[in-house]
Amino acid sequence: MRQVLIAGIAGLSLAGATTVAALVAWPIGREPEKIVLTGDVQRGAYLARASGCIACHTNYEEGGAPLAGGAPLVTDFGTFYPPNLTTDSDHGLGDWDVEKFAKAVRQGIAPDGTPYYPAFTYPFYADFSDQQIADLWAAFQTVPPVATSAPQHDVGFPFDQRWGLKLWRAAFFSDPQTEPVANRSAEWNRGRELVRGAAHCSACHTGRNLAGGRDPNAFFAGNDALPGGNKAPAILPDALAKRGWTIDNLSYALRSGITPSGDVFGGSMGEVVQNGTSFLTNADLQAMATYLMEGEVAADSAIASVATPQPTYD
Ligand code: HEC
Ligand code: HEC
Repeated sequence: MRQVLIAGIAGLSLAGATTVAALVAWPIGREPEKIVLTGDVQRGAYLARASGCIACHTNYEEGGAPLAGGAPLVTDFGTFYPPNLTTDSDHGLGDWDVEKFAKAVRQGIAPDGTPYYPAFTYPFYADFSDQQIADLWAAFQTVPPVATSAPQHDVGFPFDQRWGLKLWRAAFFSDPQTEPVANRSAEWNRGRELVRGAAHCSACHTGRNLAGGRDPNAFFAGNDALPGGNKAPAILPDALAKRGWTIDNLSYALRSGITPSGDVFGGSMGEVVQNGTSFLTNADLQAMATYLMEGEVAADSAIASVATPQPTYD
């Protein structure tokens, strides 16, 4: 698939100048509604933690200022440098407004209309409410300006052709499905919202096809081919239970990084805990663990049995 995508993009860009021009001009995204809500800085800061904005956009290793630009993000498609999101007007978001911010975060589209690379985890934020966006924006306004730019992404041809991302979006941009499910507890639903949405656990725990799209049939089934040789195991209920996880030891591990065997999480999972889940409330960690251990299946079949009318033979 990756080869197909490369061939497709390369072929289009070498041969079909008109096709490319059409694709470059092809408008994407929706105009966001005006956001008039007042944001809450504390709630926004908490959501920025839960969502990894701070983790990705801060270069901890080099002692970088918060949100001033992240450490290199190595992927199969090249190396990305998460940009400066501070209030600096030239290098950060100083000149942005909440509508531009909303469009970037929920739709993955820059103020000039070009699409962002999915190395920015915007597909997981698509269901953020206007209030959540207003909260995040309020929190981002409190970040002191830093006048440095992240390096240019180091992405080879054809992935350096941003218009090619429009094809990627058309094929793989899907709803994160974080809406509440009627017959499940508030706790389970809160866990679902965090795990499937903000905390973007499936960014690593779901297998990807060769074009970098998440494989919907492999949801949470694990990914053996993460960049840097990391392997993320399956986090489906059966797999977790088989390896000794319970709601309690899982929420404890997400807070402390310590697993039931007394080990600590390795590789990128260690960073997920250190820069993300360790900042969350016990109630939210318990909710995430509840959602993961109970899973979707029962809910889905309950929905199916309600939604599917029984045939009648009279
Ligand atoms: C996995 C790493 C990662 C996470 C998590 C992440 N980002 Fe980013 N972000 C990126 C990368 C990489 C880019 C650059 C994308 C591009 O150039 O196409 C980016 C770009 C952006 C931009 C565009 C900036 C510009 O100058 O155009 C905004 C705004 C942004 N991110 C906000 C957020 C917010 C808000 C969150 C949390 C809700 C977040 N990001 C979480 C990696 C991340
Ligand atoms: C950046 C990639 C990444 C993200 C995002 C991520 N994980 Fe992980 N996860 C890993 C890796 C890699 C491992 C294996 C760690 C190890 O070998 O110690 C792992 C291991 C785990 C394990 C242990 C499974 C086992 O039985 O050993 C659990 C549970 C887990 N992750 C849950 C989560 C949850 C919940 C989230 C969302 C908050 C999440 N992960 C987000 C990469 C990730």
